[in-house]
Amino acid sequence: KRKESPIYFHEETGTWNAFQYEDVKRLADDKEKFSVVFPQMPGNTLKNSIIALDPPRHTQIRSIVSHAFTPRVMKEWEPRILEITEQLLNSVSGSEEIDIVKDFSYPLPMVVIAEMLGVPSQNMDKFKEWSDILVGSPKSSRKEDVDENINIRLKTDEALAEFFHEIIEEKRGDLGNDIISILIKAGEEGVKISEEDLIPFCRLLLVAGNETTTNLIANAVYCLLENPDVYKELRSDLSLVPQMMEETLRYRGPAHILRRIVAQDTELNGQRLRKGEIVIGWLASANRDESKFENASKYDIHRSPNRHIAFGHGIHFCLGAPLARLEANIAITEIIERYSSISFSKDFTIDPVKNGAVLGFNSLLVR
Ligand code: HEM
Repeated sequence: KRKESPIYFHEETGTWNAFQYEDVKRLADDKEKFSVVFPQMPGNTLKNSIIALDPPRHTQIRSIVSHAFTPRVMKEWEPRILEITEQLLNSVSGSEEIDIVKDFSYPLPMVVIAEMLGVPSQNMDKFKEWSDILVGSPKSSRKEDVDENINIRLKTDEALAEFFHEIIEEKRGDLGNDIISILIKAGEEGVKISEEDLIPFCRLLLVAGNETTTNLIANAVYCLLENPDVYKELRSDLSLVPQMMEETLRYRGPAHILRRIVAQDTELNGQRLRKGEIVIGWLASANRDESKFENASKYDIHRSPNRHIAFGHGIHFCLGAPLARLEANIAITEIIERYSSISFSKDFTIDPVKNGAVLGFNSLLVR
């Protein structure tokens, strides 16, 4: 498709689909022609969050929330992330087999973001349950299942808003070093940030940050299982882990797509697009575009430069990228330090995430 029909109309979903690197990048970059503000759908968990705002509001909110993921904040959290990683790996040490997803890469980002948001540990189970519901899909495309899914999302949304309302109130009186406190402080110094902005942001962090990071770690492990020589190479030089992670992001990035709605009639790679039409940008395809990456279908940790767009591009470039990279690099470094080699478990079967927007695994058994 990438070569033959780079801009392809999919009848069933009524969407345009862009596959080439430059086109997907333009979708992300050209904020005048391509908007992220879609008609409101019930149960939409991204509503009112920055990922669904155009400038100028996006610019204002982003200038505040970006305080939550600065290099300084990341440095402060690094020791705690390492500690959580070690605890999770300790709890399965000695086991013949580990499920990388269930035992490790699923709980890690969840616990980290909950702590970063200042969620009390006794609420962790609730928090996990909500996060699962918000990223989950309906059981099938049957109307009853879709309606049931919308209802449970709406209820979860209410519970979550109530929960964060209480936390925000508490923090206002007693600021700490958690994300919510950082944002309240930043809001006091610059553009005011109200609860109507903070709650959707907290909700977005659950939706955008957890499943993607879980799958980045799982995808990195999968790439290492497929490339035992790379595992050996990293074991002899752990400083190569970050570049291995960049190649994993390019080759098996967990976020498959971007979505945009045409804001003004335009054209993309020669195809006319009309206002109101929906365009999907396939990040996974863009990152394997031969006209951008030499030997694009080869997993090569020494690729340089590696200008993948696994975290998107332009004004909506993933705000959590520094956190995702930090967690994934710590996670893989710890695995490599502990295990001289890893291999697929003998019961291994591919168990992919069944969600068109995410590339990853429900479980990944290794020994
Ligand atoms: C935006 C991918 C982890 C928070 C995005 C976008 C992508 C992406 C592709 C752009 C969407 C668009 O342009 O429509 C990923 C991947 C991750 C990851 C692959 C992990 C490997 C995280 C984490 C957080 C996070 C850990 C925070 C805890 C956000 C936010 C935005 C965003 C807040 C919206 C930024 C804006 O609209 O200005 N992410 N993400 N992400 N991501 Fe991530």
